[in-house]
Order: sequence, then structure tokens, then C-alpha cells
Amino acid sequence: VLPVFVREGLAEPRAIDGMFGVEQHTETSVVRVYDDLIAAGVQSVMIFAIPELRDAEGSEAYSPDGILTRSVRRARERCGDRLVIIADLCLDEFTSHGHCGVLDEHGAVDNDATLERYGQMALRLAAAGADMLGASGMMDGQVGFVRQVLDDAGFRDVAILAYSAKYASSFYGPFRNAVESQLEGDRRGYQQDPRNRRESCREIELDVEQGADVVMVKPALSYLDVVSDAARQTSVPVAAYVVSGETAMVEAAAAAGAIDRERAIDEVITSVARAGATIICTYWALELALRWKE
Ligand code: PBG
Repeated sequence: VLPVFVREGLAEPRAIDGMFGVEQHTETSVVRVYDDLIAAGVQSVMIFAIPELRDAEGSEAYSPDGILTRSVRRARERCGDRLVIIADLCLDEFTSHGHCGVLDEHGAVDNDATLERYGQMALRLAAAGADMLGASGMMDGQVGFVRQVLDDAGFRDVAILAYSAKYASSFYGPFRNAVESQLEGDRRGYQQDPRNRRESCREIELDVEQGADVVMVKPALSYLDVVSDAARQTSVPVAAYVVSGETAMVEAAAAAGAIDRERAIDEVITSVARAGATIICTYWALELALRWKE
């Protein structure tokens, strides 16, 4: 799965600080990436969108024609069934404070009020043609809630990729530049503690009970034990996300001449597969597909 970033109001693709060659795309330039993925045999894309306007409610995420909805619609029109289209289902790109949900009067994330927004957002994205929604916001009950909303509206075939084991990690640093995150503070209130292994088992169980079609572990590299646990524990496919900071570590070391870039990338991706992930989100997806084809 290749993650892509579409930035509203951008005239030209723009480099992202710390992302080594990954760009923010315009609404039109990203379409070329889809063509390249299909030609290379990559099966799936995960779309993140950055709106021009943000507010405390993240309302551009579920407005009738917001940037993410438009991008999904366009991807579907362009690709038909040749690419599995995953849309990120989270408010963090859309809120002025950068949190994954709306806040209560004390400034804490309001879990249940956020679920209502996720439901509205899910309906927009499903109607636009998303095959799968990446529930990445880490609100309690999000999978069951979104599943119910989708089913009630007749979107039974839209799948849910649950970010079941998402740790509060330092390795998301460059991603926050990619989405121009406004976050102050951290997400430790709703993301997991890196020291906790058992909690992931429980979160995965809950998400599968609630209807998750795929469970995700994120980050991947520092959490291969969790990937391995997940693969043993559950019968649904396990995905792992090699995140921005993990990618940057390899790229920076290679750029410094310390390691062989291609061998290191292959080794990283192999390790994630070996641990038990059968779906891997990586910024190297296109490059790897092309190289392995050769
Ligand atoms: C949140 C989200 C994050 C990433 C994907 N979705 C970051 C966060 O929790 O701050 C990180 C991905 C990466 O680092 O590559 N919607």
C-alpha cells in the first residue's frame, strides 16, 4: 500500500521536510501516481488529504465536497477496480488544533462526539467510492460505530482497516510535516504506550469483534513483536505501517553512506513480512514494485 498526500490549493507538487522524496501532490498530479502504481502492480493506495481551511470541528473532513472526498472520487473515476482505494478516516488533518478528534470544554479529546464526526466522514468517503477506510484516530469504539453507520446506509462492502495497535511514537515526526500538523502536545491520551505489549492483543480482539476487516500495527519496525503477536492471534489479515520516521532513518543513514540503501530497504520490508504482516504500508511501495519486477 502506498500512502499519498494530496494538498488542497497547491499549484505544483511540493517536497516534504524529512520525507526524502515523498511529495505533497496537487489534486491532478496525484493521478499520475495511481497510473504508475497500477502499471507497477501495486494493489492499493492510502489517501491522506490536507485542506486549505481548518477549524476546531474538523468540518472539512465531512463537508459535502471536501478535499479528501474529492480525491477519493477522482481516484475511483480514474482507476475503476484496478486499485484498492483506502481513505484515511481521522480528523487530525482537518482540525485547527491537530488532534484526531474534537475537544471538550477542558481541551481533552471528546471520544463520543468524535465518533459522530467519523460516522459522517465515513459516509462521504464511502459514497465517493472508497473501498476501505483506515480508522486511524484511536477513539474507543470507532470500528463498531463506523461499521454500523456504513451498514445502515447500505455500504456493507466498504471495509474497515482498523489501526488497532497504534503507539504514541516519535517516528511520526516527518508525517506531521506532510500533513502540516498543528498539533501541540501529544497523543498519549489516545495512542498506546510503547511499553505495553498486552494492550495490543486486547485492542485487536475488540476491533475484530466490532467488525474490523484488517488490523494494523503501527509503527512497524520497533513493534515487530506486536506484528507477530497479531498474526498469531487473529484470523483477519494483519497490516503494518512502516512510518515516516522509520523510512527517514534508513534514508538518512544511506545518504550518509553508512548503509546500502536498497539492501536495507529490502531487509526492513522483509522483516515486516517475516513477522507476519501480509499488508504493508510503505512509502517505498512503488519503488519496490518496480525494482522487484526487474
Ligand atoms: C493520524 C496518522 C498519523 C500517521 C498516519 N495517520 C500520525 C499521528 O498519529 O500523528 C503517521 C504515518 C507516518 O508517520 O508515516 N491520522
